[in-house]
Amino acid sequence: MAFETIIYEKKDEVAWITLNRPDKLNAQNDTVRGEVVAALEQANSDSEVKVIVLTGAGDRAFSAGADIGQFPEWGPLNVIQRSKGAKRPYTVIREIPKPVIAMVNGLALGGGCELAMACDIVIASEKARFGQPEINVGVIPGGGGTQILPRLVGEKKAKEMVFTGEFIPAEEAWRLGMVNKVVPADKLKEAIEEVVEKLKSKSPAILKLAKIAVNKSLETPLSVGMEIENELFAMCFGTQDQKEGAKAFLEKRPPNYQGV
Ligand code: COA
Repeated sequence: MAFETIIYEKKDEVAWITLNRPDKLNAQNDTVRGEVVAALEQANSDSEVKVIVLTGAGDRAFSAGADIGQFPEWGPLNVIQRSKGAKRPYTVIREIPKPVIAMVNGLALGGGCELAMACDIVIASEKARFGQPEINVGVIPGGGGTQILPRLVGEKKAKEMVFTGEFIPAEEAWRLGMVNKVVPADKLKEAIEEVVEKLKSKSPAILKLAKIAVNKSLETPLSVGMEIENELFAMCFGTQDQKEGAKAFLEKRPPNYQGV
């Protein structure tokens, strides 16, 4: 599929999705959002893709959030229709079973911060900064900044970020649990490849169950979550990859997973 505002590349079982509006700090208009969703779905349906990486073009930004240039056209009804009528990257990332990694190369603001937080793993450059500055343009976050962020950093810090709109450096985002790892800018690609290799060596079938299980922990009371985990744990034993994993361990050799 040809894209206008993103770049989609597939290499060595990895789909790289790059938001490509560097002159606008990769701000997300409707086309960007639609194309990110289409690219995620393309990667998800491609059996050769095991891991998906999301990043931003240029050396300044992952994404500076929603394209504020679109705001003057919007009213409450079309915002509701827009979010109910079209799939949103934040939900698609959580729904697709493959691991999605955010490679945060610079500013991750508003919808850019929310996009990174929706990913399963976040690796950031030391230059990255995170923030929910929507308050400065008269709105609140609309893609999880008031919902996913507090679950990650706690209510107080989330309120501080959402109420003040101030940016935090990558190191603080790491301390708060928003980011898995912070590395120098020139080591970012290497750090991503390291995680990608680890994930590629696992069973895609079991990774899928692991992703569903951890996602559910944010949505359910503990007792329900424990039941869901137990059911998904049981489902592992219905896969060939579980048999292969245990057999390979006992035979002291690396497993050869088939993803089923
Ligand atoms: N929507 C639309 N355009 C944006 C944008 C956004 N969210 N963020 C940056 N841009 C554009 C700027 O308008 C500018 O375009 P121009 O060169 O055509 O004028 C270009 O990206 C570069 O940004 P600029 O503001 O000149 O860079 P800066 O270094 O002075 O400031 C920021 C960087 C991130 C502090 C500033 O761009 C900013 O505050 N952006 C808005 C972030 C935001 O509020 N996001 C949430 C939206 S709800």
